[in-house]
Amino acid sequence: MGFLEEIKRRRTFGIISHPDAGKTTLTEKLLLFGGAIQEAGAVKSNKIKKGATSDFMEIERQRGISVATSVLAFVYKDKKINILDTPGHKDFAEDTFRTLTAVDSVIVVIDVAKGVEEQTEKLVEVCRMRKIPIIVFINKLDREGKDAFDLLDEVEQKLGLTVTPLSLPIGMGYDFKGIYNIWEKNIQLFQEENKQTIGKKKAFASLEDPELESEIGTLRLNNLKEELELIEGVYPPFDQQEYLEGNLQPVLFGSALNNFGVQELLNCFIEIAPKPLAKESDTRLVEPEDKKFAGFVFKIHANMDPNHRDRLAFIKIVSGTFERNKPYHHVRLNKKLKFSSPNAFFAEKKQIVDISYPGDIVGLHDTGNFKIGDTLTAGDTLQFKGIPSFSPEHFRFINNNDPLKAKQLAKGIDQLMDEGVAQLFILNLNGRKVIGTVGALQFEVIQYRLLHEYGAQCSFENLNVHKACWVEAQTESDDFKEFQRIKQKFLAKDKNGKLVFLADSAFSLQMTQDKYRDLIFHYTSEF
Ligand code: G4P
Repeated sequence: MGFLEEIKRRRTFGIISHPDAGKTTLTEKLLLFGGAIQEAGAVKSNKIKKGATSDFMEIERQRGISVATSVLAFVYKDKKINILDTPGHKDFAEDTFRTLTAVDSVIVVIDVAKGVEEQTEKLVEVCRMRKIPIIVFINKLDREGKDAFDLLDEVEQKLGLTVTPLSLPIGMGYDFKGIYNIWEKNIQLFQEENKQTIGKKKAFASLEDPELESEIGTLRLNNLKEELELIEGVYPPFDQQEYLEGNLQPVLFGSALNNFGVQELLNCFIEIAPKPLAKESDTRLVEPEDKKFAGFVFKIHANMDPNHRDRLAFIKIVSGTFERNKPYHHVRLNKKLKFSSPNAFFAEKKQIVDISYPGDIVGLHDTGNFKIGDTLTAGDTLQFKGIPSFSPEHFRFINNNDPLKAKQLAKGIDQLMDEGVAQLFILNLNGRKVIGTVGALQFEVIQYRLLHEYGAQCSFENLNVHKACWVEAQTESDDFKEFQRIKQKFLAKDKNGKLVFLADSAFSLQMTQDKYRDLIFHYTSEF
């Protein structure tokens, strides 16, 4: 197969949802239909179990699983599918945001009973801002839930999407009879089945089939016909270009647990979802068809075995081919690197690959060269955009509790920050280190990992910070000079040496913005 065909057949996407909506179950069922696993139950949930937030075995368990499920690749109908795993726990939301920089589209899973939940809103907002194509899958139709049309309204209103249903449920919960597939124009009847394997379902090609009427009843059939008319009248028809541009979002219904509506989702997905997309860099738009390799690091997994400081850097290939043992250019370090054992992922297995194509993810063994956001190329000097840091929510000073282990602590902090576990800010005034995280859980993770992986003991001290804002300014301006003098106490540098204002309250941020009008305060590191 030629280079261009290889690109065309790739679909790299992420599944996002609020915890418990069914992301793990759906992932597993996609693998089942893709033939990558023979029986469900093989993919472990990487979520942190409720009430286990300070149980470090649980965190380690979760880390172990997330290596295995970071990328789940399989081939379905000749398409190479790469599913990128996203953690559901809200304290790890930043990991999910970063993974979203490496996907070409997403599937959003919504629980039919719970509707649109908080975590889904946040994640979809990021996708919407980036114009990532979205398919919505409404799950658990075998349970009593909200009315399908109410849910479509909710998705539009809460998620700010424009939906077009591509399937429609017939009944729900105890009364769930099946699904009309608007995309394929056929009907499948629902029957609870062996959930671990795929069974054959009863299907009808036409609404006029007399057997269908006797199966679901005249009333339901008429209802269905009316609802289909309503859909035609109310919702815009599916338009692939609009979907690809992020302006229109198809919705499908099903029950992942019952393998129902999943294959239909997969069939629809491989037809409409985008092939690997171009990505913006600081010098040019990098097209996948570009023969020269370029890719970026979106995730780092480190120290799964504390005896070996091994890390796995996950690279999304944007253009060209990535080949084993070829020297590549690490742009930030201006250094040539060669990789003798790049890992590709097939279902849950890692294997060494000789060649990978745009859309693929390779895992590279790393001894400390990579940071999240790093660009690797065949020689070009360019830096991919769109992998910003966001302002953390929690801020604490980090203190060294064992003066003899200062070096280990510094090294540990550096490496954990490269991995993207949290963000480090160094105060301009006195060089004190401030750790910023999305959730409180990360502080426990950091403390635990510093001790177990680096032998360093630390403690945290509360710091009153409302937001970290990256400051954009004309460095010669009087405004900037005065701002630096007056706000000296609140200024810090981020990992790249960029100036950050640690505002202690929303009010003080507002006052500062009003006072120094020439300065721009950004909530993300990329502007
Ligand atoms: P998550 O990754 O989004 O957090 O969700 P996960 O797949 O773990 O699913 C959460 C719960 O919802 C699981 O039940 C799962 O079996 C159930 N579930 C998923 N899809 C469906 C569906 O279509 N219908 C019904 N009725 N349930 C569904 P659990 O009891 O929390 O876990 P488990 O013991 O079954 O693994």
